[in-house]
Amino acid sequence: MRKIINHMPFSSPPYMNDVLPYPSPGNNWLHSGRWRWVEYRFRRVCRCYGYREIRTPILELTDLFVRSVGEGTDIVSKEMFNLVDRGGRRLSLKPEGTAPVVRAIIEHELLAAHPLLKLYYIGQTFRNERGQKGRYRQHQQLGVEAFGSADPALDAEVIELAVRFFREIGITDQQLQINSVGCPNCRPAYREGLKKWVKPFLSEMCGDCKTRYEVNPLRMLDCKVPHDVEILSGAPKLLDWLCEDCREHFNSLRRHLEAMSVPYQIAPQLVRGFDYYTKTAFEITSGVLGSQNALGGGGRYDGLVEDCGGPATPGIGFGLGMERCLIAMESLGIEIEPEDEAPTVFLVALGESARSAAVRLLTEIRSAGIAADMDYVGKGLKAQMRLADKLKAPLVLLIGENELKGGVVSFRNMQTSQQEMIPQGEVIRRIQSWAKN
Ligand code: HAM
Repeated sequence: MRKIINHMPFSSPPYMNDVLPYPSPGNNWLHSGRWRWVEYRFRRVCRCYGYREIRTPILELTDLFVRSVGEGTDIVSKEMFNLVDRGGRRLSLKPEGTAPVVRAIIEHELLAAHPLLKLYYIGQTFRNERGQKGRYRQHQQLGVEAFGSADPALDAEVIELAVRFFREIGITDQQLQINSVGCPNCRPAYREGLKKWVKPFLSEMCGDCKTRYEVNPLRMLDCKVPHDVEILSGAPKLLDWLCEDCREHFNSLRRHLEAMSVPYQIAPQLVRGFDYYTKTAFEITSGVLGSQNALGGGGRYDGLVEDCGGPATPGIGFGLGMERCLIAMESLGIEIEPEDEAPTVFLVALGESARSAAVRLLTEIRSAGIAADMDYVGKGLKAQMRLADKLKAPLVLLIGENELKGGVVSFRNMQTSQQEMIPQGEVIRRIQSWAKN
């Protein structure tokens, strides 16, 4: 996908994409019109469910992620882009969206005024991972976070919101997997049980799993090495070790999803790469995405706000990968009509005096809120008309010496090729009445 141009000394950093103003064959998903189309639908769904937008900085103190995502996770131990500012502060480009939102709501005491706080965000995320199709070092997440309720009905709402959003953008082959990762009451016993069970096989397992065994044993369940996957398929299941509270929460979530007619599969080995999760964990995948098949994922994090210095407050949310949504849409052949950025009117001027008149008229038209443009590289009539055509402007206004003398303009409808002279003072009204039809 990346073109290496020999004589050009710069290209975008590896696995970071430019999103372009025009579609390019084979890479349509990198057209900014498509991004806006998807973002608009995400905002609309969030609004429909009562979520409000939050925006946080692109950098946060590194310690925020160490404390929340967890020191032993791949994200914190290997994948963050870190820097030190002039004040000696250790900062990181945000590798995920949840911890910054938690930090912001604590800092601004949002929970005091809004004990049930429902937020969404669209933001850039950075992970220094091994890049491949669907896995980038800068990616955009569409996320929601809901704080203040431990009710499994809220878990179901958050999950159903994601499912609905994928439906709205036409991704019909989505699959939802759910699991429970337990809580601080039941997870430690499971962790020990898992370690005990794995120990006899450990020498045959990959280096990462040997480290995970010591640092973060549950993450072994996420290993993709085929031999390890085979071994771990026989491992004890966390769902069998849940405490009463976690089991009831999980069963209740299942009942809600069924009542909402949201199909799901139970994935007992779904653990996800963050330390903050408690109880519900989920992922939504698409078969058209290849190895990076997760369109999105999330879960509950009932201890996170308190761990970050706020009042004990339950929370749940998800993050969806924008690039993966767009790639899946393209693979599924979903046709969309991205928002049109073409000017409504293109002004063609012939001669210096006509040009001054055109500049004045252009400003007037734009002041009326109508998208209008003209040529700035001094082209002749034919070239200006070609440009109008290329820009797909449906209306062209021509001003030459004759028009100037008569105080008129030639008003051309590019779709019908009809052209007529109209008084300059009538231009805006005529464009507006054309737009109404
Ligand atoms: P995550 O599963 O790490 O969760 O990321 C969410 C989604 O972002 C993934 O399912 C995937 O679609 C996309 N994604 C992740 N990494 C990349 C990458 N390198 N390139 C392209 N897309 C990627 C989180 O980040 C959690 N904060 C989600 C969450 C919110 N949990 C609770 N609230």
